[in-house]
Amino acid sequence: MASSPPYAGRRALITGASAGLGAEFARQLARAGAELVLVARRPEALEAIAAPLRASGSVVHCLTADLSLRDEVSALVERVEALGPVDLLVNNAGAGGPALLGPAPLSEQLRYLELMMLSVTQLCHAFAPAMAARGWGRILNVASVAGRIGRAGDGHYGPAKAYVIALSEALHLDLCHRGVHVTALCPGFTHTDFHAEGELAAMKAKLPKFLWYDAATVVGEGLSALERNRAVYLSGRLYRWLDPFLQSVWVRPWLRVPARPG
Ligand SMILES: NC(=O)c1ccc[n+]([C@@H]2O[C@H](COP(=O)([O-])OP(=O)(O)OC[C@H]3O[C@@H](n4cnc5c(N)ncnc54)[C@H](OP(=O)(O)O)[C@@H]3O)[C@@H](O)[C@H]2O)c1
Repeated sequence: MASSPPYAGRRALITGASAGLGAEFARQLARAGAELVLVARRPEALEAIAAPLRASGSVVHCLTADLSLRDEVSALVERVEALGPVDLLVNNAGAGGPALLGPAPLSEQLRYLELMMLSVTQLCHAFAPAMAARGWGRILNVASVAGRIGRAGDGHYGPAKAYVIALSEALHLDLCHRGVHVTALCPGFTHTDFHAEGELAAMKAKLPKFLWYDAATVVGEGLSALERNRAVYLSGRLYRWLDPFLQSVWVRPWLRVPARPG
């Protein structure tokens, strides 16, 4: 007798599902039997991801929200709660952003941190307690290898991801014996839309190809780590091998994010 897919009957909320890793999380979780709630700012892009999944028999809801605006995150929580319980939460939405010592006004910098840190916190706050009360849940927070290393020129992206890792580790310790798995997934360079434009595209063009992984590998490794209840997981053998070197105080002064205009 064929066994049912591992997440059959489970509802998964995925942020940043209109592109890249989030779209791949949607595809893999749909294959695993989950009902999906996809979130991003662009409704047409969300629908383009949802359409083939619905055609394959998945139930998919698309909700638009700008997660850098706290009121929109609160409204999103209400809309999701109206659909029913969330069993899996994938906090994936993210972007490159302004630098702390760059010319962007403070208001823009703080809004960026709303997206990268506080929306993750707010969604964990909204859904983790109910998962623990039901005795089953999965939370995967997409961080980054950048969150593992302090680098000159890296305020705010790396520090925001370091917060996501620390938050995930603490939540993992709180919830690991209550049926709720919490994992911070730390990808290295991954082929998505993240480096599609501007200075990030220029940076990508200069980097060697062996540093890059595809989204399907990163997401597959992340979901596997989540099932194994790993607190922090670096995707990609190369990055797992590099991590101890990147932690060294002797190596860090040599790492620097290229100067950015904003
Ligand atoms: N690609 C890499 O090399 C890499 C490496 C390490 C970590 N990561 C992390 O992986 C995650 C996914 O990134 P990706 O590589 O898949 O990039 P991507 O292809 O650019 O996708 C980013 C997703 O986030 C959504 N998003 C961006 N700003 C948002 C906002 N204010 N409100 C709601 N949704 C927003 C985008 O949707 P809309 O534009 O429709 O809103 C899109 O769906 C991010 O957290 C990123 O930091 C990426």
